Amino acid sequence: MKNDILIINGPNLNMLGTREPDVYGLETLEQIEAKCISWGKQYSLHVNFSQSNEEGKIVNLIQQAPDGYSAIIINAGAYTHTSIAIHDALKGCDLPIIEVHLSNIFKRESFRHNSYISGTAEGLICGFGSESYHLAIIASANLLKSQN
Ligand code: DQA
Repeated sequence: MKNDILIINGPNLNMLGTREPDVYGLETLEQIEAKCISWGKQYSLHVNFSQSNEEGKIVNLIQQAPDGYSAIIINAGAYTHTSIAIHDALKGCDLPIIEVHLSNIFKRESFRHNSYISGTAEGLICGFGSESYHLAIIASANLLKSQN
């Protein structure tokens, strides 16, 4: 469990590959999942990768995470900018949180500039496509190492 991390993906991320490829690229979520599992192995981390389009399911995942994981990496998709429920679940969760986005949310429409996740997170990585997840996995590995 010490080396298990949970990656949570929010709404519409299951559509990667065909969804706005000019913004999000051509990689599918399954391809990003495979990369994350392999990046995790390089740092002796076991990665559990999940996706849901439903806010309540994401809240449930966060509430249950301390039973099986040591850190959460979250790309909450559009819920990043709207969800006080996900914010509250993360606030109540005693695990290190790392926020990720494929795109640079600060370079885009102003409604994407506010994140309800950032104030609960150790840090935020955005703008590097699937590489944002890689950087988040490295950050988690370092955080967990510094805790031991
Ligand atoms: C996103 C950015 C969000 O603004 C958007 O709603 C998404 C994807 C990203 O990874 O760049 O669904 O989280």
